[in-house]
Amino acid sequence: MKVVIVNPTYNEKGNIDRLIPVLESEIFPQIKNHDMNILVADDNSPDGTADEVKKLMQKWKNIDISQGEKHGLGAAYIRGMTYAIEEMGADVVFEMDADLQHDPNKIPEFLKKIDEGCDMVIGNRYSDGGSIPQNWPLPRKIFSIVANLFVRAIFMKFSVHDWTGGYRALKKEVFLKEREELTNYKGYIFQISFLHKAIRDGFKIGEVPFHFSDRNLGKSKIAPLGYIMEVFKFVISTRIREILLGKFGKFLVVGGIGFFINFIVLKVLSDSFHWDHSWANLVGAALAIFSNYNLNNIWTFEERKAKDIGSYLLKMAQFYATSAFGVIFIQTGTIFLGDRLIGEGQFLFFLPIKYYYIYFVVGTGFLLIWNFTIYNKIIWRKKPHK
Ligand code: GDD
Ligand code: MN
Repeated sequence: MKVVIVNPTYNEKGNIDRLIPVLESEIFPQIKNHDMNILVADDNSPDGTADEVKKLMQKWKNIDISQGEKHGLGAAYIRGMTYAIEEMGADVVFEMDADLQHDPNKIPEFLKKIDEGCDMVIGNRYSDGGSIPQNWPLPRKIFSIVANLFVRAIFMKFSVHDWTGGYRALKKEVFLKEREELTNYKGYIFQISFLHKAIRDGFKIGEVPFHFSDRNLGKSKIAPLGYIMEVFKFVISTRIREILLGKFGKFLVVGGIGFFINFIVLKVLSDSFHWDHSWANLVGAALAIFSNYNLNNIWTFEERKAKDIGSYLLKMAQFYATSAFGVIFIQTGTIFLGDRLIGEGQFLFFLPIKYYYIYFVVGTGFLLIWNFTIYNKIIWRKKPHK
């Protein structure tokens, strides 16, 4: 396979000078089964990085350079990977910093994982022998670790340890599939968003632990505060969108339709047919639950729906039982406890709001969580793969 190591550079003259000879004379000769190449993605560095690279290109013919304007690390990678694949014919591309923080001796391990069938291999600084620099000040170490834990927890993806790092290898198919969407992520956030999309689309991810060494020459280009904000914004907004567009969002829509059915039936039976309101509401609620059950079965949990009449009826019985338990014990129970433990109160600060409104809203929130959890984990639980 043709492999291209993409090194983004911005003012890395002294570093790229040292990295390229190591790759060419120490690392590439160890790799017999792949055609190894280098692409420097330089953003017109004022220190003359590009001129240095052009000198090295005289000596080694497997080096190329892509030059452009500076729009951030992600933008440089998108331009560089596009060039590596379209102009150089790469099957596999690497992401690698030019400042020697990424131990080049690990390259064969990344390739081995690709050969074994991984689509994207992530350098891992946080477990299995990977590490961050010993001499980093404590706050920086803590931030680095906490940020990655945060991303793993919010995305609920604990099997991938290093979301922010920039030492990776990937097949061209992964990049070509995600390129379009990645153009929105021009800075360092490119790393998290790329990995997130690759996992979402089912690409096989592997990890290689490595020791992230400290920078010796030159300066980091990251702006820590802006980056923290960007990570936070990206992770939270992506997760909220996933939840609302996923099963939980459908469940809320179904519940909204049910609420509407309940209300219309209550109103029609009461006003037009002069039923007692309680009976009218019981009929409305029973019909709403019936609608909720069927819509959840054919839409929210479409791929896990009841396959035969027996399981359809069993699920329906479980569904009515869950709904009844939730309304009586969870929603009504919250109002009961609120009244007794906190009180009935007449005012919220200075607003004349009776507290039971609040207990009702909170109780309904608990009810939604209860219902969704039981539907998702019990009634329409995932069948284990055989
Ligand atoms: N072409 C180009 N354009 N290169 C850039 C740009 C840019 O706008 N910004 C940074 N680079 C290059 C640097 O010259 C270096 O080779 C590499 O990208 C990494 O940049 P550093 O400035 O050294 O980043 P860092 O060491 O602080 O950040 C590392 O950790 C981050 C967080 O875990 C990198 O590994 C990042 O990829 C990683 O996101
Ligand atoms: Mn660096």
